[in-house]
Amino acid sequence: MYQKLTTCLASVKEKIDFKPEVALILGSGLGDYADGIQIEQTIEYTDIEGFPVSTVKGHKGRFVFGYVDQTPVVIMQGRVHYYEGYPMSDVVLPTRLMGMLGAKKLFLTNAAGGANTSFHPGDFMMITDHITALIPSPLIGPNMEELGPRFPDMSEVYSKRLQEVIRNCAKECGIQMQEGVYLQFTGPAYETPAEIRMAQTLGGDAVGMSTACEAVAARHMGLEVCGISCITNMAAGLSDAKLDHKEVQETADRVAKSFKELVTKIVTNM
Ligand code: HPA
Repeated sequence: MYQKLTTCLASVKEKIDFKPEVALILGSGLGDYADGIQIEQTIEYTDIEGFPVSTVKGHKGRFVFGYVDQTPVVIMQGRVHYYEGYPMSDVVLPTRLMGMLGAKKLFLTNAAGGANTSFHPGDFMMITDHITALIPSPLIGPNMEELGPRFPDMSEVYSKRLQEVIRNCAKECGIQMQEGVYLQFTGPAYETPAEIRMAQTLGGDAVGMSTACEAVAARHMGLEVCGISCITNMAAGLSDAKLDHKEVQETADRVAKSFKELVTKIVTNM
């Protein structure tokens, strides 16, 4: 695996000489955020040797290198999901790659279902912690000592410092920010109402099919991590609506403008 990473790294470095400070992963609805930054270069995932390529419709697959204001960033426009059939080590490969390119901070975004009944579709939730106990760990397998320790600490996955930055930025943007625990399921089916009751019992406020595994891989490498979920729908059983990807996309699109404004403010203040 480490060799696969170094192959990808060499393949990227062949194409670009750029040291990002912040790595940003874009979830549904934020996909075109990268188009609005000062772009230095883009690299299609398919042009990187050994790179897992996303198959979800509407998910673009490329790294965008550039600047958000003065901050050098690498953006993942389209992520790799476990439900696509890749092993977890491939799912987090791009995250690790961004860390190996020099990014010290990781900003995660996603679309998620609201399990907390005080949430509403269109809300933003700052991730304060997560539950990955229902998915395989991306750290299973021989430990890559070059990246981090065998038994990494996970007591503060989402940086308290960055949480404070997010709170302040949201306030300045006039955006109400919910806070809570993100619980990752494997997908690709949406959850059942019983699974959502389980998520609530376990302390999950939002549920989704990404993100937490990436946070684990990033913390393993010592990156400082933060994340925001866009609550695109109430989770199964909490509203009369049937769940479908179209609704998720529509809500994400509806709040995309304020999400982008918020992301820019946060990136320039992290
Ligand atoms: N469940 C899981 N993932 C999701 C959801 C959901 O309700 N909404 C958006 N992503």
